[in-house]
Amino acid sequence: MTELSPSDIAKDAAAAAAVKLVENGMRLGLGTGSTAAFMVRRLAEIVKQDGLQLRCAATSQATADLAESLGLKIESLDDIGWLDLTIDGADELDPDLNLIKGGGAALLREKIVASASDRMVVMADGSKVVEVLGAFHLPVEVIGFGWQTTQELISRTLDRLELTDRPILLRQRDEMPLLTDEGNYILDLSLEAIPEPARLSAALNAIPGVVENGLFLGLCDLALVGKPDGEVVELRAEDAEE
Ligand code: A5P
Repeated sequence: MTELSPSDIAKDAAAAAAVKLVENGMRLGLGTGSTAAFMVRRLAEIVKQDGLQLRCAATSQATADLAESLGLKIESLDDIGWLDLTIDGADELDPDLNLIKGGGAALLREKIVASASDRMVVMADGSKVVEVLGAFHLPVEVIGFGWQTTQELISRTLDRLELTDRPILLRQRDEMPLLTDEGNYILDLSLEAIPEPARLSAALNAIPGVVENGLFLGLCDLALVGKPDGEVVELRAEDAEE
């Protein structure tokens, strides 16, 4: 087996702590990204070992494919209806456990799944913990039709919120617009800092071509932050100030 990098040790430690929250009979949302992939592998192991009966919905096709390759059954969110727990990664998390997500282009399904869950738990390595969101680009999922007009409307919205001259880039893969699982585009907003996440989120989502943005506000109740030595620190929104 290849040796894990310090960052992967941290991600895997967070993933191991997250699957300890899983109980027999739970309806689970499975996140997307490299940390979520560690969690899916660990989940498949405990399902085999302990014979847990779970119902799982995935936040992306990539996660569904990985889970199924490891013997986990994936059902549609609508077939399950509501979830007890969603476990996902994040690109940034602040002391209120507000998040930026979407680095892996799955923010839309991730937000739908997290919003349909009693609890959302985030796994991260320490590099994701910030005082103020926004150093990581904010992904915004937009409809392909008129995307440049939508980009201009986003730019005007940022000006209005005193976030002027912030670059907005169409995410590409192989020199083509990257398509999300829903067939939409992603615009990445380089904002440096987001002083008022709720105001920005509402303003972005009011633009017709915007489907959803990567700010996850008030959705996460626990963050499990792994360290390169394998220790895991728990952060809760209510005691984040302590
Ligand atoms: C996927 O769209 C994202 O929201 C991921 O959850 C986020 O980018 C974290 O990914 P990593 O675990 O790979 O850092």
